[in-house]
Amino acid sequence: MSKPSSYKLEEITQFSKIKTMTTSLPKHLQDQEGLSEEGKNFFSILPKEKGWMGSYIYNYQGFWASPRTIQGVIACQQQFHAQDSDIIIVTPPKSGTTWLKSLLFALVNRMKYPVFEQNHPLLVKNPHELIPFLEISLYVDGCVPNFASFTSPRLLSTHMPFASLPKSIQDSKTKLVYLCRNPKDTFISLWHFTNNLRLHHKDMHPIEEKLESFCKGVSPYGPFWNHVLDYWKQSIEKPKKVLFLMYEEIKAQPKLQLKRLAEFLECPFSIEEENCGVMDEILRMCSFENLSNLEVNTNGKLSNETENKVFFRKGEVGDWKNYFTREMSEKLNDIIEQKFQESEIKFLYI
Ligand code: A3P
Repeated sequence: MSKPSSYKLEEITQFSKIKTMTTSLPKHLQDQEGLSEEGKNFFSILPKEKGWMGSYIYNYQGFWASPRTIQGVIACQQQFHAQDSDIIIVTPPKSGTTWLKSLLFALVNRMKYPVFEQNHPLLVKNPHELIPFLEISLYVDGCVPNFASFTSPRLLSTHMPFASLPKSIQDSKTKLVYLCRNPKDTFISLWHFTNNLRLHHKDMHPIEEKLESFCKGVSPYGPFWNHVLDYWKQSIEKPKKVLFLMYEEIKAQPKLQLKRLAEFLECPFSIEEENCGVMDEILRMCSFENLSNLEVNTNGKLSNETENKVFFRKGEVGDWKNYFTREMSEKLNDIIEQKFQESEIKFLYI
């Protein structure tokens, strides 16, 4: 991890021409072997570490990601034009993105798709289909998204750190809904998820080795603390632009947090809706229990062939206690204390 990440957005117009070549490896496992000569040159100067799914992840603009993701980020930075009415969900991976996508979709579309109706889109589509990721879905592999089919407000999502967001997102009135989760549960969820997606590996990543990487900041879109702190600061400075949510707080007070979300998005629940139980129904429909048991989420797949069921594991707080040794817990506690001491962020169930 010695070389600096020296490419700037202006300097990489050439890079947008880099295309991954066809290889026999599944796309999400591709590393440098899947790149053209131009692509290899680009990545050869970036800091590189052993990855969580493919062989390597690279440090680009201060965060870690696979070459495929970095290409999606660059394409998005160059091509995406935010609209003031856009609503973008931002999360570190495995923070409960799927849950927030379902809540936000149900909330924002509650006039168009009343939650008490049988044919609600969330009952037949995975939340990631309804609110796509910018860099790992819409702009992946050189795709040029067609936004014509999106209705306003456009609901989108990303894992990009704040500093790497396309400038138009930062400069417009686009609203960002940020969700994070206590780092121990985030880590355990990530460890399971990446073990699951490593198609060619039957063995699990040794948990101590991956915790070491996580603590060094080397995790997808990591360092985790930078990601969280940057958005937290934005939420303090620009409370109308960035809403900062925590998984554990939604678990503990779902109605209160849903109300906060609705008010932030300027679509508060009416007294009538409150009395009719609209909030309760949104929370019920989007609950882990309900979503994870739907046919689409037990047997369905996303267009990139990822099985929908991988997004639903346990959906609990504090599952880390079933995996962490005392030593592992203390190691992460020390880092959490050090990294978050100057913020008001207090993770629950840690
Ligand atoms: P666990 O692995 O701890 O079970 P993401 O959506 O960002 O990929 O995060 C996935 C995590 O959110 C998983 O956590 C998953 O089980 C949990 N999750 C998915 N849907 C949920 C829901 N409706 N309610 C609560 N947690 C949910």
